[in-house]
Amino acid sequence: MAECCTVSVVNWKGGVGKTTLTHHLAVGLQVMTEAEREEKLGMRRKPRVLLIDNDAQCNLTISCLGSDKFEKMVERGSGTMRELYATFLRDEDPDSDVEEFIVEGMVRKSKYENYEDIDVLSSHPDLIYTDMDFAIYSEPDFKKSMLGSNIYKFQVLDRILERVRERYDFIFIDCPPSMHYLTQNSIYTSDYYLIPMLPDWLSTYGIHSIVTKVDELNRMFRLAEDGNYVETELVGIVANKVREYKEKPIQSQSAIINDLKEQHRDQVFAQYLTDGDGISQASSMGVPVYAIAGSGGTARKQSELLQEILGEFLDKI
Ligand SMILES: Nc1ncnc2c1ncn2[C@@H]1O[C@H](COP(=O)(O)OP(=O)(O)O)[C@@H](O)[C@H]1O
Ligand SMILES: [Mg+2]
Repeated sequence: MAECCTVSVVNWKGGVGKTTLTHHLAVGLQVMTEAEREEKLGMRRKPRVLLIDNDAQCNLTISCLGSDKFEKMVERGSGTMRELYATFLRDEDPDSDVEEFIVEGMVRKSKYENYEDIDVLSSHPDLIYTDMDFAIYSEPDFKKSMLGSNIYKFQVLDRILERVRERYDFIFIDCPPSMHYLTQNSIYTSDYYLIPMLPDWLSTYGIHSIVTKVDELNRMFRLAEDGNYVETELVGIVANKVREYKEKPIQSQSAIINDLKEQHRDQVFAQYLTDGDGISQASSMGVPVYAIAGSGGTARKQSELLQEILGEFLDKI
């Protein structure tokens, strides 16, 4: 792998698995064997990963670092994405050292061990106000084109990452359940976006509008940058919390997944993630599901499926 690959995990619905998937893609890259890495990534060493929690709910921060560390960070009120966005929005050329905000090698592998090669940019509950900061930070001259004068509003995260990107093979950004500025910034700076979804009827409509919105953003960014902008590509749609009967999705969900495949063709991942206690159990213990895969049951199955999904993801990028 030559350059860093940046991926936004997006859906404007909550509870679809954005955080779970972001977390497990990063961890899954560390769980791969050396032979698998050689085959899929063309490298033997473990890839360096940066996880960005771009959601005020802070679920990724809590899942990765544990609640104790998270609560200390909230109390301190500094060192998170909230502060980084604020500094970069305020100053044309902030002297803020992004590296100082990165929590290095603290993502929990088990109760006693951490992953050395995953770093985190944490969130803060006050990140909920950052979309508003973006909104009011506009040029007063409304006659100016939205494209020319305000493009910097979408480039803040890109400017933040510019300073650290070369240190990583992958950057995964866990987005909030909306398509506002935080998500738009994430799309701007990403090579790809990934959509987790629940296999219910109304969700299929949601997917269509997300893809349309990102297409619009891509067009706007390209126009604003005179064609120099490289568009953010849909890497795929992953169905989550699928219920099975005899190793196949139950009929109603199978119909929805097939329908989705008709609409979006090869963009729907062949592998879905099943519903099961493994993920929630691991999450309550503050570890990824891989940590309890040995206990069998849904934890083992979900671990295997997540590795399949990671493999497909790597084939698609
Ligand atoms: N396949 C799954 N099976 C069971 N629980 C899941 C599964 N995927 C996610 N969850 C749980 O569902 C909840 C919502 O998932 P999450 O990843 O936080 O969604 P989002 O980030 O889109 O809001 C979390 O409690 C998570 O642990
Ligand atoms: Mg989330």
